[in-house]
Amino acid sequence: MDLVYLNGQYMPLHEACIPVMDRGFLFGDAVYEVIPAYHGRLFRLHEHLQRLDSSLQAIGMKNPLTYDEWLGILQKLIDQQPEIDQSAYLQVTRGIYAKRDHSFPKQIEPTVLAMCSPFGHPGSHINEAGISAITLDDIRWNYCNIKTTALLANVLLRQQAVESDAAEAILIRNGNATEGAASNLFIVANGTIITPPKSQNLLPGITRDVVLELAEQNSLTYCEADIPEQHLKSADEIWLTSATREIMPVIQLNGHAIGDGKLGPMWKKIYSLYQEFKIKIRGYS
Ligand code: PDD
Repeated sequence: MDLVYLNGQYMPLHEACIPVMDRGFLFGDAVYEVIPAYHGRLFRLHEHLQRLDSSLQAIGMKNPLTYDEWLGILQKLIDQQPEIDQSAYLQVTRGIYAKRDHSFPKQIEPTVLAMCSPFGHPGSHINEAGISAITLDDIRWNYCNIKTTALLANVLLRQQAVESDAAEAILIRNGNATEGAASNLFIVANGTIITPPKSQNLLPGITRDVVLELAEQNSLTYCEADIPEQHLKSADEIWLTSATREIMPVIQLNGHAIGDGKLGPMWKKIYSLYQEFKIKIRGYS
């Protein structure tokens, strides 16, 4: 049930240990992916592994495994409980080295970890009730497109949201709203779905891309454009997307209602399209 993969071996979670000299532990010198699996099928695996490649390349590492090797490992973990929806987590660190030194060691083997856990029940109350969010200054670094495990800023931002009774923080950089602490941002204004273009200011979310594809296929009006901070309050709808929380409707921002403070019609449409798409795909695409 709690099987994990670590460096070529499968073992129970409680037996999986990382040496303290692992650079992932010491420096956050590591990247990761979170991939949903519905009814035993990994969703958008190809895209997640492509993003893993980009993250690894950005930190000067090669992917230690092939596509088929990743598929084999992740599928084996998911197959422990194929009947329930799960999310697979994988992490690659630069590896273990005897001396703590910021620069990359010359000879080093990456640490590879994969595990999975039941999905926090997508489509459950969080989506149906809508969530509250707050805006916060984006205190992160300049490479937010890299999916690194060095997430302290994201952790502090999310915590600040939670302490303000909000489920997520929407981040502001240079006057624009870019994304959430662990999600991508969409607004609906005058019938158009708007999300910021991909850049170093945000993670190129896989769920974000699915939402844009569904908008395209279903002739919904959308565009990729900067979202000035002040456009958030006047938006008809705000959504936040991620692999594990799908498409969350934000009904309150900084204590004020968004739109009429209820679930928006465009969210209802895109959310049902997303649910249909998940069922239709049931594959690795
Ligand atoms: N986070 N932006 C940030 C900063 C994120 O951490 C995430 C996801 C996203 C959405 O990306 P995707 O649609 O590919 O999940 C955007 C994951 C779920 C996490 O850290 O657990």
